[in-house]
Amino acid sequence: MTQDEMKKASAIKALEFIEKDTVVGVGTGSTVNHFIDALATIKHDITGAVSSSEESTKRLKAHGIEVFDLNSIDTLDVYVDGADEITQHMSMIKGGGAALTREKIVAAVAKKFICIADDSKQVDILGQFPLPVEVIPMARSYVARELVKLGGDPVYRQGVVTDNGNVILDVHNLSITDPKKLETQINAIVGVVTNGLFAQRGANILVLGTKDGVQVIG
Ligand code: 5RP
Repeated sequence: MTQDEMKKASAIKALEFIEKDTVVGVGTGSTVNHFIDALATIKHDITGAVSSSEESTKRLKAHGIEVFDLNSIDTLDVYVDGADEITQHMSMIKGGGAALTREKIVAAVAKKFICIADDSKQVDILGQFPLPVEVIPMARSYVARELVKLGGDPVYRQGVVTDNGNVILDVHNLSITDPKKLETQINAIVGVVTNGLFAQRGANILVLGTKDGVQVIG
């Protein structure tokens, strides 16, 4: 099985968590693209979706799935999204696709976060994948200096503007032993919109594609 086949298998398995006549929270990325395609096969059974990015909104709409504004939704049972890294404690690094802020907002509203991923995403300690931080453009250099004080090496993601009109700093060389604490510390830097640590609100269930099949953990 290729990595993409493992992503697809995990995405299809996640359909089992979707209840009839509900609005589904949808993340962003290549694994989620498989999920959106799978969701299209049951589109007449769901009310619609709430999306975490312009990219996912476009794909959902192309399949004829109605996309609701999050402000019009009172409750969201399930949010399905991928991850760049995930630990056994269900803490994640996300934001490889620069959609971290909207992902974090939709995840905050959802009762359950279902993480779909191939097994290359499983790690013991977060930080091998550079931590994305969404920053207000005028604060970029200041935030970068503050991130250096926290022990990281921030790199400006050239040419990327987020759906919210901001920029991304990817922070290298962090060994993240206390993800909840670091999530709070980085979010406290003025000019940071949010960072890609999903530890305070981690995943509830991991649907992991492996070469031996799909495992459901949690
Ligand atoms: C986008 C994300 C994605 O979930 C993460 O980057 C994983 O992507 P992929 O499914 O393509 O491996 O956080 O901002």
